[in-house]
Amino acid sequence: MTRLAILEYPDPRLRTRAQPVAHVDDELRKFVDDLFETMYAAKGIGLAATQVNVHKRVLVTDVSENHDQPLVFVNPEIIAKDCVGTMQEGCLSVPGYYEDVNRAQKIRVRALGRDGQPFEMDAEGLLAVCIQHEIDHLDGKLFVDYISELKRTRIRRKLEKEQRARADAPARPRQPAL
Ligand code: NI
Repeated sequence: MTRLAILEYPDPRLRTRAQPVAHVDDELRKFVDDLFETMYAAKGIGLAATQVNVHKRVLVTDVSENHDQPLVFVNPEIIAKDCVGTMQEGCLSVPGYYEDVNRAQKIRVRALGRDGQPFEMDAEGLLAVCIQHEIDHLDGKLFVDYISELKRTRIRRKLEKEQRARADAPARPRQPAL
């Protein structure tokens, strides 16, 4: 398995609309494994293909504490939504920022699984929010699109500054944190 590089806001590639997957094959399953590897390494609970610069409609989630509820959604579609509520969201592509977002807290989703077979499932709470957040990525949307322009601009400027500092820093091996 390979850890993939995660694009960070405001990288314009995060605005790409992902294309539907025509065939769920071994190559796609290998990519799904890489998505899980990348998501777990980054301590995320969801990751969309868009975030690793692959513009196919694939996302993975695992909202469990023990990494034992991995879910794969290929060509996901929300077919019902209910109970709008507010939850604080973060994003591996917007590292370090958390903001309240309103979304349906109950959804029904239809997708293809890892085996290419169609399935439908009901999700609520954190999982429902996570699936909607990841589908947004596939449509080129980010959670910061839901907050005020003032806050979004502030986040963008801070991240751009960090990205510039990182690009300017001389390459050196990362020290283990104590
Ligand atoms: Ni995200």
